Amino acid sequence: MEVKVVSGDITKIKVGAAIVNLFEGVQRPGGATGAVDQALGGAITKLIAEGEIKGKLNEMTLIHTLGKMETERVVVLGLGKQEKFTLDSIRAAMAEACKFLRKLGVKQAATIVHGAGIGGMDAGKAAQALTEGSILGLYTFRKHITREPEYGEIEELLIVERDGSKHAALEQGVRRGRILAEATNYARDMINEPANYMTPSDMAELARGVCAKYGLECSVLEREEMKNLGMGALLGVAQGSKQPPKFIVISYRGDESSKTTLGLVGKGLTFDSGGISIKPSEGMYEMKGDMAGGAAVIAAIRAIAEFKAKINVTGLIPATENLPGGAALKPGDVLKAMNGKTIEVVSTDAEGRLILADAFCYARKLGLSPLVDVATLTGACHVALGDVCTGAFGNNQEIIAKVMKAGEESGEKIWQLPMFDEYKEQNKSDVADIKNSGGRWGGAITAAQFLAEFSQDTPWTHLDIAGTYFSSKERAYTLKGATGVAVRTLVNFALGIAGQNMK
Ligand code: BES
Ligand code: MN
Ligand code: ZN
Repeated sequence: MEVKVVSGDITKIKVGAAIVNLFEGVQRPGGATGAVDQALGGAITKLIAEGEIKGKLNEMTLIHTLGKMETERVVVLGLGKQEKFTLDSIRAAMAEACKFLRKLGVKQAATIVHGAGIGGMDAGKAAQALTEGSILGLYTFRKHITREPEYGEIEELLIVERDGSKHAALEQGVRRGRILAEATNYARDMINEPANYMTPSDMAELARGVCAKYGLECSVLEREEMKNLGMGALLGVAQGSKQPPKFIVISYRGDESSKTTLGLVGKGLTFDSGGISIKPSEGMYEMKGDMAGGAAVIAAIRAIAEFKAKINVTGLIPATENLPGGAALKPGDVLKAMNGKTIEVVSTDAEGRLILADAFCYARKLGLSPLVDVATLTGACHVALGDVCTGAFGNNQEIIAKVMKAGEESGEKIWQLPMFDEYKEQNKSDVADIKNSGGRWGGAITAAQFLAEFSQDTPWTHLDIAGTYFSSKERAYTLKGATGVAVRTLVNFALGIAGQNMK
């Protein structure tokens, strides 16, 4: 779908549907909604008075104009209570409106900039949220469905604004929203892809494609090179699978004058069966998405490059399967990571921290700082925070706070969990330097404490997306399946460092 900013009057535009809005409790709409109400002979005011239109968030009322206006339909979109109104209300409401209009077969729609009127929001930011919500909400993953879709696509969304002085800001917002949403949808595609179509080799090929398209450097370390580097932890996880592991390195250089490079690390488990410590079969298919962190890193760097952000970023994605083959890792085995630390594998299902350990060592070797990792790391994080927010951990409060702020701005909720030293006790091993599972209690925290042994003194933030990477229900722009979580947070964080955030 194309999103365009046009000047003009929403009451005169000739489209399949025009979207106007209403805050909860407003009896007599003003602005563009008021003008449309007049053109319709007071139909909206009447429906409000009768109680059919309440203005609740995501409420949609369809009015057929039957020749009274150029547009065939008007949709009155509820924005909820004005005091609870945020950019995320715009994303959610537009996602619902677009899904609704697609079902009606509308090919061209027009909308006003929700929130920029009595909502009092910055026009550019509102246009960004509007675009983001629309493109995210219309996402589908039909690659493996051979039957025809039930309905077509909305081809064009026009953002109508009379005040020409706002156009530049609106256009900038639309561009930002489009880049962020398309990158998120790209990550969703990778995550939704079944594991037989998204092996470590497929992931490496895909990363190469992104790098070629966006002018990034790409290198992929093969098993032999991992051996030479001493990546015993990553190789240990990979040894149960016939698919060769790939260590993907992608680099964007947007600031040659700077000596620092931000490091983004993404867990790239293309399928996690648990290994010999095998998972229950129910729901195991969801583990095709255990590379969601890696997908988020690839998609985020793609967007950072599209923004031509003035920053250097390197992404590291250790990619492997975790399978119980004849050569597989066994509980009790001891592995040696790249920094020489030995790890007792008490559960082969705690494989994410093993591959991240070597990735962190490699990041330190490259001198990347700060470091942000994204990983579907622990079921415990899902238990603690549900599917509402991502867990944050780290060793540097300033970086954690910046990542959380970047999340807040993008509508991705993040909640910090503690890193008290007492939790380290649970990771102590009798036979090696550390063990890879601290047991059930505080599982998300002990996993983070394990990672901290490998990030060492590099300023670092860890995002555990085990609860948020996948959705079992549809909720506005969060659809069933992969959410693409963390892409927008990572991009905002990088743009923040580059000083290119929206004012
Ligand atoms: N990939 C899983 C974590 C996960 C679970 C992500 C559910 C998304 C949804 C991870 O590799 C894992 O298996 N973790 C174990 C750790 C335990 C053995 C210490 C877990 O959470 O059960
Ligand atoms: Mn696992
Ligand atoms: Zn896993």
